[in-house]
Amino acid sequence: MHESNMDYVAWAEWYDIFYSAADPGDIEFYHGLCRASGGPVLEIGVGTGRIALPLAQQGLEVVGIDLNEPMLRVAERKALEAAPLSGSLKLIQADMRNFDIKRQFPVVTIPARTLLLATTEEEQFHTLCCAARHLAPDGTLAFNLFYPDPALLADSPDEEFLLEVVEKANGGRYVLTAKNRFDLATQLNHGVQIAEELDASGEVLRREELDVTVRYLYPDQVIALCERAGLEVIEMWGDFEGADITEESEEIVVTCRHAG
Ligand SMILES: C[S@@+](CC[C@H](N)C(=O)[O-])C[C@H]1O[C@@H](n2cnc3c(N)ncnc32)[C@H](O)[C@@H]1O
Repeated sequence: MHESNMDYVAWAEWYDIFYSAADPGDIEFYHGLCRASGGPVLEIGVGTGRIALPLAQQGLEVVGIDLNEPMLRVAERKALEAAPLSGSLKLIQADMRNFDIKRQFPVVTIPARTLLLATTEEEQFHTLCCAARHLAPDGTLAFNLFYPDPALLADSPDEEFLLEVVEKANGGRYVLTAKNRFDLATQLNHGVQIAEELDASGEVLRREELDVTVRYLYPDQVIALCERAGLEVIEMWGDFEGADITEESEEIVVTCRHAG
């Protein structure tokens, strides 16, 4: 089993706090695709069930794989709290770079830029091969990545920027900041995310630094990797609503199917 390059014990705790305020706009996109297929759905890197659990509540059969037990435990707890589900949520601990659950699905998803957590080209290729292996003959694979625009890649490693502020009912707040350290030769970003909990007077009660390494991809590399994995890109957008990719885009949103 491959080692994970992040501290998911810490991540599991902070993940839903910050996602509760963020609106990456991805839920409608993934839910629309899954609902249109009728399921069952495979989500690769299911995390805390942010996308998967509401689908299971809406009646779909959802299978989620994730490498990191702390994330799966949060998803499990939330599913229990939401029970009974009108659909189902099956959680499996597995590595997206090398797994075989011996089933095929009409929809396979890799949301929230998770493909980039495979940090070499080969690992990204193997992840796409595993996704393809679990995709039904007429099925759709959907995933999204961040768009590596030149301004972003020029970020200074010392420049801390604000990602999210979540107000607490008692006047305190959670603050998420980050720093990027892009290596243009390896296409790696050795980033750091800094999560803080502050009380009403602004005093820091808790602070945690989370290392996040990702390997970014350009659109033409995505197409080439998909082709190598036996997949054909159907659509590639610059956001979740179908915009073209431009230098201002934040996302690369991809749907593909088995190459004909
Ligand atoms: C950014 S989160 C996305 C979670 C969820 N899909 C969502 O949209 O909220 C990335 C997830 O990928 C998982 N992950 C990272 N590396 C993985 C691997 N090699 N195999 C399977 N899951 C992995 C992490 O544990 C984490 O839960």
